[in-house]
Amino acid sequence: MEDPADDPLAYGPEPIEEERSLETSLRPRTLDEFIGQDRLKENLSVYIAAALERGEALDHILFHGPPGLGKTTLAHIISHALGVNIHPTAGPILEKPGDVVAVMTNLQARDVFFIDEIHRLPKVVEETLYPALEDRKVDVLLGQGPSARTIKLDLKPFTLIGATTRTGLLTSPLRDRFGVLLRLDYYTVADLEKIVTRSAKLLSVAVTHEGAHEIARRSRGTPRIANRYLRRVRDFAQIRRQGVIENTLATEALERMEIDALGLDPMDRKLLLTIIETFRGGPVGVDTLASALHEEKRTIEDIYEPYLIQIGFLDRTPRGRLATPQAYAHLGRKPPSPAQGPLFS
Ligand SMILES: Nc1ncnc2c1ncn2[C@@H]1O[C@H](COP(=O)(O)OP(=O)(O)OP(=O)(O)O)[C@@H](O)[C@H]1O
Ligand SMILES: [Mg+2]
Repeated sequence: MEDPADDPLAYGPEPIEEERSLETSLRPRTLDEFIGQDRLKENLSVYIAAALERGEALDHILFHGPPGLGKTTLAHIISHALGVNIHPTAGPILEKPGDVVAVMTNLQARDVFFIDEIHRLPKVVEETLYPALEDRKVDVLLGQGPSARTIKLDLKPFTLIGATTRTGLLTSPLRDRFGVLLRLDYYTVADLEKIVTRSAKLLSVAVTHEGAHEIARRSRGTPRIANRYLRRVRDFAQIRRQGVIENTLATEALERMEIDALGLDPMDRKLLLTIIETFRGGPVGVDTLASALHEEKRTIEDIYEPYLIQIGFLDRTPRGRLATPQAYAHLGRKPPSPAQGPLFS
């Protein structure tokens, strides 16, 4: 994904540069350390235990869900639990069939092959995966020009773990080749509180229960954001020579960062206000909205919309996006009277 994140003020659940290395240190290493997503965890632990007992490779797994909820983390946890190596890569990096063949032919038995942003695989690469996933075979092209020929190579049994923000972005032949589809949902405030408390311990900073709660409830259901806000609040604590992060400090720091009580950041509010003010509440098509906001359509669809929909501020209708009465109320705007009718009909 492009980085909305080159900007130091970077909003949204995409990792920012400073975060990439810190994320690794805050990342839970085992399913027990992984907080929340209870049903997913229970199922996953059954699949892992069963595969281990049979001494077989785990079935191919597809994780889907908004950014920053733990897909990459889980892929690492799984390989760790299976006691195998993980070979991580990402859709946009695998440009040619040869790239994916090179990884797959080097896998040891039962290894994990992790493809992040798997919806961004080039078509030819995706097609190379089909026989590999189904029959553990790959076609390898030998030589060039008229004398070129393909040979079939057998692969060792392995587990492909794919991650994507939305399964709808995947072709169905690819999606159908995964034995396990697991969806990550936004976290509850209670779970995010536990995550903040755990991270604070790892970062050696003291946080009260109320302080953790304040950070958690403004983190739009996303562990990555909770960890990011914790670090920002820690900066405030440090500069003020305040040893403990408590409620008042957390609130003040987050308000200074323009994160409101529901965790909406300036971009969330701009998106809603654009619908409300420029398009009279909608419906407005996502392309039109994207150009009005000077944002990429994909960023809006993958990063901003899912949470706004989740909290009931945005409706996705066939005719476009609509701001809901709750969004008007939160932003202190009066909904248009029905007599006025929509801007476009
Ligand atoms: N359940 C959890 N418990 C504790 N920390 C978590 C949990 N899930 C995620 N995190 C933290 O959030 C960070 C982001 O998670 P991760 O990188 O796995 O998200 P992702 O779903 O792969 O995001 P993206 O779609 O952007 O790749 C991790 O580094 C980890 O510190
Ligand atoms: Mg990831």
